[in-house]
Amino acid sequence: MSNKMWGGRFATGPDAIMEEINASIGFDQRLFRQDIAGSIAHATMLADTGILTHEDRDAIVAGLNEVLAEIEDGSFTFSRALEDIHMNVESRLREKIGDAAGRLHTARSRNDQVATDFKLYVRDTIDTLVIQVTTLQLALVERAEAEAETIMPGFTHLQSAQPVTFGHHLLAYVEMLARDAGRLLDARKRLNESPLGSAALAGTPYPINRTMTAEKLGFDRPTANSLDAVSDRDFILETLAAASICAMHLSRFAEEMVIWSSAQFGFVRLSDKFTTGSSIMPQKRNPDAAELVRAKIGRILGALTSLLVVMKGLPLAYSKDMQEDKEVAFDALDSLSLSLAAMTGMVGDMTANRERMRASASAGFSTATDIADWLVRELNIPFRDAHHITGQIVALAEGKGCGLEGLTIEDFKTIDERIDSRIHKVLTVEASVAARQSYGGTAPANVLMQAARWKTLLTGQSHEPKPLGKKKHGGHGDGGVE
Ligand code: ARG
Repeated sequence: MSNKMWGGRFATGPDAIMEEINASIGFDQRLFRQDIAGSIAHATMLADTGILTHEDRDAIVAGLNEVLAEIEDGSFTFSRALEDIHMNVESRLREKIGDAAGRLHTARSRNDQVATDFKLYVRDTIDTLVIQVTTLQLALVERAEAEAETIMPGFTHLQSAQPVTFGHHLLAYVEMLARDAGRLLDARKRLNESPLGSAALAGTPYPINRTMTAEKLGFDRPTANSLDAVSDRDFILETLAAASICAMHLSRFAEEMVIWSSAQFGFVRLSDKFTTGSSIMPQKRNPDAAELVRAKIGRILGALTSLLVVMKGLPLAYSKDMQEDKEVAFDALDSLSLSLAAMTGMVGDMTANRERMRASASAGFSTATDIADWLVRELNIPFRDAHHITGQIVALAEGKGCGLEGLTIEDFKTIDERIDSRIHKVLTVEASVAARQSYGGTAPANVLMQAARWKTLLTGQSHEPKPLGKKKHGGHGDGGVE
């Protein structure tokens, strides 16, 4: 039997393999809400412009709502012979309301229909992702505020560099996530033009009103070129590019969680809820959630690469190649959503080991730069010379097997006569971070100010910086190690 939706000129139905390679219903059924919303908007417009009778429109709209209810309650049977969501819905509509259903496809094609459905889906997904990004940002800001005065080693090359505050480190991710949300919202802006009514590729002879359908579906305007409208997949490419960058950020953070939660670092303890045990080594607590978030970038970036390659070299307008856009995109967007949720859970549940971080922060002569800065400031020594003198001080401490704070004033004077006892006050990690009050610097006061700024931005309610010296508990996970 030939296909009942388009089989007029076909003597036989498709080969089984043809049906298998051609069908997209296995994955595009998740577009049912967008497909039905698009059809209702289209039918309403067709009646308003006199292309469809009001009776037919009423039957179509009522029938589509019934189909929607069937899909939602699970009683709908999807058919692979009907290829995709568009024809599954329309065929069921015909069973319900008869011939009027056949008029719904006037002045449109599956080419503008699928572009419309997919855009609506991507737009909804962007909105959800942006809320998830904001939720993670708020979780980070809360922790940053609690850890504004917690001192940890700051790294470059993963070597101890200068002490920083843990709150400052967490706020770095808040900045990255803000750019991620901005990129997603930027893609949304360009996405928001309606392809509906572009028909197969050339537009339609019917007196349709594309502005009306665009408005009904929440688009800003109709697309201005029918060929572009049915062959454009920039909207999902841009979204996947933004998603890949976000996933890359989450991957970096996840890697830090893996490092921090190792026995060797011991900076944080991830909660039982986000770790797993080993079936052979009873002592293990593995950071599986963090590791999986670290890995998700693989498939998310893979989707972007896959779809760019599909689109490359495709002549205008629609080609069936473009049906390959959905599976990878759905997988990538689902993966990002799951990663954001897992990260938010881990951030809320982790416990900071403040003593451990502080001890590690003072290792490796981490306040050496503060000595050089003191020599510049107090003794008016040029920075390059101060750097050299400090190098000798570090070598001396290393030779004596002590930290910089273990050196006596006599020790300092053997390197440079001009140094006096005031130098001792810059040697602690507390003094080091407190001094870094330049805008964007790591000082606890800055962290509290930035945390308040972010809370105001993210919640829309004004927040004042918390006062210094009010350390909150380091986490609400299980088994704290403070
Ligand atoms: N299932 C198709 C897709 O996802 C819908 C568009 C089909 N268009 C066509 N001319 N065969 O791309």
